[in-house]
Amino acid sequence: MINKAVNIGLIGFGTIGSGVVENFNLNLPLIEDKVGRKVVLKKIVDLDIATDRGVNVDPGILSTDVNDILEDPEIDIVIELIGGYQPALNFILTAISRGKHVVTANKALLAKHWEEVMASAQKNRVRIGFEASVGGGIPLLKPLNESLASNNIESIYGIINGTANYILTKMADEQRDFAEVLKEAQEKGYAEADPTFDIEGHDTAQKLIILTKLGFGVYIKQEEFHVEGITRITLDDIEYARELGCSIKLLAISTITDGELEVRVHPTLVDEKHLLSSINDVYNGVYLIGDVVGPVLMYGQGAGMMPTASAVVGDVIDIIEGMNCKIVKNVKYGPAKVRVTHVKDISDIQTKYYLRLIVDDKPGVLHAISGILKDLNISVDSVTQKGYGKEGSVPIFMVTHQAAEKNIREAVKYMEKLEMVKDEIVFIRLL
Ligand code: HSE
Repeated sequence: MINKAVNIGLIGFGTIGSGVVENFNLNLPLIEDKVGRKVVLKKIVDLDIATDRGVNVDPGILSTDVNDILEDPEIDIVIELIGGYQPALNFILTAISRGKHVVTANKALLAKHWEEVMASAQKNRVRIGFEASVGGGIPLLKPLNESLASNNIESIYGIINGTANYILTKMADEQRDFAEVLKEAQEKGYAEADPTFDIEGHDTAQKLIILTKLGFGVYIKQEEFHVEGITRITLDDIEYARELGCSIKLLAISTITDGELEVRVHPTLVDEKHLLSSINDVYNGVYLIGDVVGPVLMYGQGAGMMPTASAVVGDVIDIIEGMNCKIVKNVKYGPAKVRVTHVKDISDIQTKYYLRLIVDDKPGVLHAISGILKDLNISVDSVTQKGYGKEGSVPIFMVTHQAAEKNIREAVKYMEKLEMVKDEIVFIRLL
């Protein structure tokens, strides 16, 4: 047993912060036994220290002044759980500059300020724990960075936003409206403060930036890849996907072929036989392929108070174990990026596509559409016209064979100009 206690400061006493306190309340003896020393949650800082968080906490350790943590030389580890860019970034950089290790769940901040935060941590020889930033409670980032370090990662496919997955699952299983299910996800505490981050794919993109860095050694900014959310998915799409033997999932994809990396976020038709198709509700799943290990599926709760707290406290334990050995590893995140010669633009990818068109129900419509597809070298696998719609219009659902994205976009542009095409055309990529 080491005599000196480890002191922790927690910034942010919201949902996840309360989960962290609860995790310490539940399992402190287990945690202290694991690290072989006393672990003290010395201070909790939040602007609101009046609200009852429903967890047992000594009121004497609550403060509204962040300097009670940042300027306390006895605090060894700072947990940042306020989220967002500022003031979180300033707090993290200040903590690092004062030699404090940092644990954070802040994927938005890491995705945007990765290089600055990691460079500062290296310079000051402190550790950054960020397991909770992707996949909530799933042990994902450490296994990817450490346990799979002997592999060249070939592909990463992730369902990494619990809110979007919850919405798509409930829409499919209960034929419920998008807005109603979103409200429910917010009430359950899964959604971001601004839920557009969940449904427009930004939260997934931020997490994919971290996964891509760890998997391929490449730090890519969000503006540099295609990000598309689930707001245009209707119950009709979900139903037709089901008829095709697929479910619709918001996928984060990073995959490499001959040095060319594809990084993208979009709704995807996933075959029901694929493992990712059975990841439902708020659960997340990351399916990756390494050249040595083969396929691996990591699965668990990707959002919520206690699962995320589990990852945060796991990082705290890991950092204390490093402190015990006086090791501050110069942690390398991801392999050398020499394998990646080029990051592909979305317009250069090739895949199969699902298309939904709302058209007039009259002769010549399919002829006009298939003419456009033929001119752009797009071969159709199946077409179905459903006999319902508004004011004489009907939905047509199509699936193409493998096609070039740039040709699909071009075809959609031409088809939308046809008078008989009544609405915006929706296209969804297949896995
Ligand atoms: N809003 C996120 C989600 C929380 O729904 O997955 C975890 O990052």
